[in-house]
Amino acid sequence: MNLNETKARDQWGSKIGFILAAAGSAVGLGNIWKFPYMAGTNGGGAFVLLYFGLLIIVGFTLMMAELTIGRHTQLSAVSAFKKIKSKWAWVGAIGVLAGFLILSFYSIIGGWVIRYLISALSGSFNTTDAASLGGIFEGFIMSPVQPLLYHAIFMALTLGIVLGGVKGGIEKYSKILMPGLFIMMIVIMIRSLTLPGAMEGVKFMLVPDFSKINGTVFLAALGQVFFSLSLGMGTMITYGSYLSKDENLVNSSFQIPLLDTAIALVAGLAVLPAVFAFGFDPAGGPGLLFVTLPAVFASMPLGSIFGIVFFLLVLFAALTSSISMLEVVVAYVVDEKGWDRKKASFVFGAIIFLVGIPSSLGLGVWSDFTLIKDLDILDSVSFIAENVLLPLGGMFLCIFIGWVWGLDKAFKEVTNDGKIKFGLMHVWGFLVKYIAPAAIFIVFVQGILALIRG
Ligand code: PFF
Repeated sequence: MNLNETKARDQWGSKIGFILAAAGSAVGLGNIWKFPYMAGTNGGGAFVLLYFGLLIIVGFTLMMAELTIGRHTQLSAVSAFKKIKSKWAWVGAIGVLAGFLILSFYSIIGGWVIRYLISALSGSFNTTDAASLGGIFEGFIMSPVQPLLYHAIFMALTLGIVLGGVKGGIEKYSKILMPGLFIMMIVIMIRSLTLPGAMEGVKFMLVPDFSKINGTVFLAALGQVFFSLSLGMGTMITYGSYLSKDENLVNSSFQIPLLDTAIALVAGLAVLPAVFAFGFDPAGGPGLLFVTLPAVFASMPLGSIFGIVFFLLVLFAALTSSISMLEVVVAYVVDEKGWDRKKASFVFGAIIFLVGIPSSLGLGVWSDFTLIKDLDILDSVSFIAENVLLPLGGMFLCIFIGWVWGLDKAFKEVTNDGKIKFGLMHVWGFLVKYIAPAAIFIVFVQGILALIRG
């Protein structure tokens, strides 16, 4: 395609529409499902502390960086790099690959949510017994066929929304459901915090045990920042490309990470106190949300209704994220290869579904098979995507802005040609050019060394 052509690009219908859609991409299973269990397996407070540190240094910085490039070029990830400096298109390509891989297993977890929604509908959240809840979960994820069926349903839903186009699909759904999710999470958090023994969980999550900090935990926290904020894979470049030139990028770049982090914290405070109150294992891994919250629902009045509404809202949160991943892949083939949007969505939706299958089987029938070290297939794919591709994509993006495109041009774009006041502009510039890429590099190398020595 001719990159200079000025064909009118779809734009967000309203400012709040964009914020909610971008926040919708950020807020998803990463906050509600992953954050609590990552905190649980990586030492609680130590992980949360590192998460915050990296959020400040890397998270905000990159959010602004991606939105800036997207809006400046009005193009999706790969094309955006190409327009500024064609030799750098591969950085965008790393992101597209990451999006592809993440969606392949994200959709499996999305399927678990659908399955639990159905359990909630059939009124089966009636026990707080850790062993039986754990058994139900394991029995489900280890069975070969059922999870794949739900994986297919989740992918089909994602596809359906992406086919609706930018305004028709994404924006409409985000507006109503995001605030609903937030309120719901707060109610569940309050129930969880008032369970007997809940304070143990609060302490575990908020009081850091510094002896738990090591290269592995550091890299896990970095991967989580990228994953949770949808950074490093061009999602925010693509979303920023739909922004109009008079939008305030500075505010958006702060609001989205703040909202995202608030939801992760609330999710952590909904899950971890209950983990301690009911005697689950905080290091229980990916099942933590699915075994703990049914116990919380069973112990609250109208719990079954809460269960239904909760899993419904989590499903929507997961979908507003999954559509953004499919969107990155689709936008790439549409902008770069000139494919028809519909065809691209169908073909890549199907391929990503197929690529996800081994990750699901790896939890059951193929569980003897490990890809990286002792990690099963899902964990290996997730490690490659979140702990390798996203951080590298993010690091090169910083280098690209700081050293190739140039900070003056970035400053001009961020401030709408000087119209917006941005007091921390030079701090941001310094972070983009030096601190963020160096921090990512150090954490990444430490983490990989820890894995090798492991
Ligand atoms: N940020 C999403 C979540 O927390 O669930 C996941 C995600 C969406 C990651 C989009 C990456 C992405 F590009």
